[in-house]
This record gives sequence, C-alpha cells and structure tokens, in this order.
Amino acid sequence: MKDTILLAYSGGLDTSVLVKWLQEKYDADLITITLDVGQQNDLKKVEEKAKKIGVKKHYSIDAKEEFVTDHVFSAIKANALYEGKYPVSTALARPLIASKIVEIAGKEEVSTVAHGCTGKGNDQVRFEVTIKALAPNLKVMAPVREWGLTRDEEMKFAKTNGIEISHSSNPYSIDQNLWGRSIECGPLENPEQEPPEDVFEWTVPPEKAPDKPEYVTIKFENGVPCAMNGINLHPVTLIQTLNNIAGKHGIGRIDHMEDRLVGIKSREVYECPAAMVLLEAHKDLEKMVLTRHQVFFKQQVDAQWTLLVYTGLWIDPLREDLEAFIDKTQERVCGEVKVKLYKGGFQVVGRTSPMSLYDKNLATYDLQTSFNQSWSEGFIELWGLPTRVSHILKTKMKKN
Ligand code: ARG
Repeated sequence: MKDTILLAYSGGLDTSVLVKWLQEKYDADLITITLDVGQQNDLKKVEEKAKKIGVKKHYSIDAKEEFVTDHVFSAIKANALYEGKYPVSTALARPLIASKIVEIAGKEEVSTVAHGCTGKGNDQVRFEVTIKALAPNLKVMAPVREWGLTRDEEMKFAKTNGIEISHSSNPYSIDQNLWGRSIECGPLENPEQEPPEDVFEWTVPPEKAPDKPEYVTIKFENGVPCAMNGINLHPVTLIQTLNNIAGKHGIGRIDHMEDRLVGIKSREVYECPAAMVLLEAHKDLEKMVLTRHQVFFKQQVDAQWTLLVYTGLWIDPLREDLEAFIDKTQERVCGEVKVKLYKGGFQVVGRTSPMSLYDKNLATYDLQTSFNQSWSEGFIELWGLPTRVSHILKTKMKKN
C-alpha cells in the first residue's frame, strides 16, 4: 500500500511544487490541509488547485475565530511587538496550523506530515516544535530545506508539471493572516532600498491617503477589543474592519531589520494596520488603569511572552504561566480609546475607563487640590538620599 503524507498547503508555489515532488519522490498519496486564518485567499480555489495537482483529499478549515480569540487576543493583552516593531502576526498562526495538522493526521491515521518552510526562517521551528510536542511519533518532513531548488528551478518544475503560477506574488514571499501581512524576498533583500510600492496590498501610500483625518473609538473589555465607534462587533469582523479603515489611511507599514531565531539578520516588511492601532490603544488604556508598578513589571512579562511566541515556543508552559499574570491585570483593562488616523500616522487622542486611576483633583495645576505640595519637599530629600551620598563621595575622591 502507498504511504500517505499530510501536507500543510497554502496554494502558493512552494507547497504546490511540494505536492508533485512528494508524489514522485516517495510514490506517496497526498492529503493537503489549508487553514483560513484570514489570509484572504479564495479557499475554494486553493482546494481546486490541490485537487488539480492530484491530492487524494483536501481539508479547508475555517480557523479565523479561533485564531483571533485564542491567539490574537493574547497578543493584544501582551502588547506583543517583537523588537519593538513586529506584531508577531505570522508567528501567532503557526502553532494553530500545527495543532490542526496534528488533529487531521490523527483522524487520517497518517504517520508523516510535511510543511513548505525553508531552513532559514523561524516558521520551520514554530511548526516543528509544536508538532513534535503534540505528536511525538509523527515524522515531520521539510523537503524545501533539502531539495536545493532555486526559485527559477521551482518555476520550471511547476511549468513542466502543469502547476499554475500566480504572477501577483512574484518575486515576493508573502504570508498573510488577519493580524498582518509579511513580505520578504526580491528587492526587499536590499535593506538600503525603499520597498517598492507593489509589495503593499492592504495600505495606500500615506501621501495618497485622504486629506481629512478619521477617528475610531475602540472599546475594550478585559483587555480585548469588543466594539468600534459604539457598535459591538464579532472579533473577526472588528479586526477586518479596522484593517480596512486604517489601511485606507496608509497606516501599518513596517520596515524592520529583524533578528531571526536562527541567527540571521533580515529585512522584513509588514502591513499590519489593525494590529498597530489596537496595540497602541490597548497600551494606552493599560496606562490609565494599572499602577505604575504593574505597568513596569508587565513590560517585562510582555517582552518574555513575545519572545516565546516569536521563537516558536507557544506550547511551553511558561506562556500560560505568564498569561495567568497578564489575564489578572486585564480585569482592569476596560474602557474606550479614541484614535485619530491621518496620512500614515495615528495617535491616541482620548480615553475613558470606569477603572481609571487618573484623578484630576490630584493632577491639576490648580491650587485647590487634595495633593499637598509641601509633602514633596521631604520626599525629595529621601528619594535623592542614596544618590546624593554616593555623588558627594565621588567628588571627594576626585579631589584627593
Ligand atoms: N519574519 C517573520 C516571522 O518570522 C515573517 C515570516 C514570513 N514568512 C514568509 N513566508 N514570508 O514571523
């Protein structure tokens, strides 16, 4: 009997070539699986393409809601920006895709699964760490890591094997989901060169954005967005809608010198309109409702959470440990944040919360307040005491 291999299939060039390559090289039957995480590909077309290349069976799984509520919302609560710039959009979807691969592998009783990652990126790590932990007996293949085909050779292989090539994505390698769009390769490999306009799909160039600003008010409940401009929205709809609105204003373009887990520095370009706006709004609201001790400590927890996710350790128990802390803090993160969008930029321009720790009576520069300014004198004495003592000694020693 023929072996069956389960392949994570995107419909793109790499994984399409992979189907034929695995069929030929291993004389195997192929089952393909595609997850809808909001990448805006027509899943029907992806399925048709898979069938056309001769797979035995294809799974299309709508995982948008699960992706948002279990992955994206955790990232919002953790203010996740890798190296201060990248909202870990690609990284967030990988463990979800891996877990569905494992699920279908069990259902179909296959013992080998394959993915289309190269040996140079982070995604191979994210897939394999998760799959191997969830299903230690599954064999995982990463043929692109070994086959040594250049992109041109792949294209030739595709042509001779009747695999259609979509021209829109060339020469870029693109990964999309609801939380963002990652673009690599081609001219982007020259970090000194401005990204050509054709890499962008979700955002207009800021100079072509409307001349009038637009305001959006986002409501958060326990740290996650639940309504926009006064209208309650399904989590998936909220993010899709905000991607459209912010993208129309040229917001969310990111050009990043990134440190990959495998040690490579790489120039990465992203479009993440909703992510950038929501992360900023969330962070702003946190600063209104958490004490400064919570805010400062949480920054370290957030950075650790983000690093785990970026480096493929979604399933490490530390993530859930950190989330226990994060979720506790989010009980306070309720309220509304008003954001102004204009020509590629955005600012939070207002916020309200029933949990606000802001006390106008304390903060005002008016004289009639409950803050007794005479207390500050003694406070400054004690606050500066260790610094003063040490500096006086330093000055003395210099003189001697
Ligand atoms: N550098 C990002 C990450 O590691 C994006 C990877 C995008 N993948 C792609 N096939 N273009 O998460």
